[in-house]
Amino acid sequence: MQAFRSLIIPKWSSDVCLEGKTAIVTGANTGIGKETAKDLAGRGARVILACRDMAKGEQAARDIMREVKGAKVVARQLDLADTKSICLFAENIYNTEKALHYLINNAGVAICPYSITVDGYEMQFGVNHLGHFFLTFLLLDLLKHSAPSRVINVSSAAHAMGKIQFDDLNGEKDYHPVRAYAQSKLANVLFTRELAKRTEVLGVTAYSVDPGIVNTEITRHMRRPLADIAKAFSFLIKTPAEGAYTNIYCTVTPENQLLTGGYYKDCACAESSWAGQDDGTALKLWAVSCHLLGIRWR
Ligand SMILES: NC(=O)c1ccc[n+]([C@@H]2O[C@H](COP(=O)([O-])OP(=O)(O)OC[C@H]3O[C@@H](n4cnc5c(N)ncnc54)[C@H](OP(=O)(O)O)[C@@H]3O)[C@@H](O)[C@H]2O)c1
Repeated sequence: MQAFRSLIIPKWSSDVCLEGKTAIVTGANTGIGKETAKDLAGRGARVILACRDMAKGEQAARDIMREVKGAKVVARQLDLADTKSICLFAENIYNTEKALHYLINNAGVAICPYSITVDGYEMQFGVNHLGHFFLTFLLLDLLKHSAPSRVINVSSAAHAMGKIQFDDLNGEKDYHPVRAYAQSKLANVLFTRELAKRTEVLGVTAYSVDPGIVNTEITRHMRRPLADIAKAFSFLIKTPAEGAYTNIYCTVTPENQLLTGGYYKDCACAESSWAGQDDGTALKLWAVSCHLLGIRWR
């Protein structure tokens, strides 16, 4: 079984040191985010765990400090479903951090029943896309100031089933949990492409990542058959540490070996779906997102 597993889940490692670097990982209290944060802390980076629930965030920071000797980790409150919380988080970062080299937009909510964010957006579109879009907008000055720096947006293979429903972004006319998740993950890929074009000249590069199928709490909202199937095959799917490989790969690999705006899976550049390569849709989504958030990127 182990041999079969290692065939389908290749191992990856790197000894790059990140001493002197600062990273933010959203949704770092559990799953892929926590493992990504732990790995970066082990490389010497200062890591900010951006978590919705501070009790969980502080517990994760304690866990990492126990496992990684000398880890420089701190938990900060961030609810991506609330633009006020995103503003407060960013303000706090500007007040406390001199630099930001890696912004890892990892947090996500998947395949949940219909609900809306504090600002009234459908939860998966609001958290997975709009929340991270806004956070990146607010932190861009610090990323620019710290260049070379990177933004890593955690997407999913599910993006390939996605379509940006411009006439019903919030699923008010017709909500389907899987469709809404796929739309939000396609939005991650399109945001990355457009961001990369705009920020490469500033020394800020961007990558989207498919972590693979990973045994985390992501199934928490899924209905019985789907969640049960995922659990039954959990021995065949990636552990959270394995699910973090491509996030870490995109963080530590030298820039000249990566393609800014690219889509990465299994620690290599991959092809996203056709919809994920549609620059017209990426531009339109960018404009709509700015409009919804009432912001203007310079
Ligand atoms: N697991 C997979 O098979 C898989 C496959 C493809 C892509 N992904 C992507 O990988 C990323 C990480 O997922 P995971 O598998 O590690 O799932 P997870 O274990 O459920 O972790 C998700 C994280 O996101 C946080 N989060 C959710 N809503 C938030 C909000 N409003 N504000 C701030 N944080 C919020 C959660 O915080 P709480 O604990 O407080 O809820 C948690 O820390 C997601 O973007 C997901 O779409 C996962």
